[in-house]
Amino acid sequence: MSKQGLFISFEGIDGSGKSTQVARLAEHLRAQGHEVVLTREPGGSKGAEEIRALVLQGDPDRWSAETEILLFTAARRDHLERLIRPALSAGKIVICDRFADSTRMYQGLSRGDLRGVVDSLHTLMIGVEPDLTILIDMDPVEGLKRAKGRQGTEERFEDFGTSLQEAMRTGFLALAEEFSGRFRVIDGGQDIDAVAADICAATDAVLAAQT
Ligand code: ADP
Ligand code: TYD
Repeated sequence: MSKQGLFISFEGIDGSGKSTQVARLAEHLRAQGHEVVLTREPGGSKGAEEIRALVLQGDPDRWSAETEILLFTAARRDHLERLIRPALSAGKIVICDRFADSTRMYQGLSRGDLRGVVDSLHTLMIGVEPDLTILIDMDPVEGLKRAKGRQGTEERFEDFGTSLQEAMRTGFLALAEEFSGRFRVIDGGQDIDAVAADICAATDAVLAAQT
């Protein structure tokens, strides 16, 4: 059992395999006897899931870029207070499908340079980073093909197309350099089992260093 909590986030463009791989990692860690909480953003708590519907459905121009940053951060604050912090305090491993790095990329880059605003609000209202961030890196054309294969109403950012996804990919790789201590970059172009094996190995190494 883990005595100390561990906070793991997954990042990457739409369709890179995050949802698939968070489930695989949770299975791997539970088999080792860890208590694992699997969650996602935007969402993860009741209030944050309500905000998720506001930001991911409806007219893409519904919110200004600044209002959108406030909404994603509000959702994160609720998620942190009600789910993430209590779970970490109880010594659990929290695996979160997207966290603040997604806001740094999607809100910080896609509608002008608002990275400074995102970071200021993050410092003021969130103030935590994951212990480990798994970046699943892959070709945006392939990722978009995968993402489009799914059904659903939450298409806002996927709808921006390949050029945005390309900018996001480059941005995420730059972020991995900026926060090289916590980021591990995984090749998402491999088959599902190979990606899972790389992610499990990276996580096991972090857990081994913790004890
Ligand atoms: P994300 O959460 O990053 O958007 P998903 O895990 O939902 O990505 O994956 C998008 C789609 O691609 C799903 O249909 C999933 O089954 C498929 N997929 C995920 N990983 C791989 C992979 N390594 N190779 C091929 N298809 C994959
Ligand atoms: P997600 O459900 O992870 O989508 P996918 O499985 O397709 O990757 O996230 C939904 C969308 O929300 C995704 O397009 C990225 C966007 N998003 C932001 O724009 N900012 C954020 O802070 C977060 C957490 C997500």
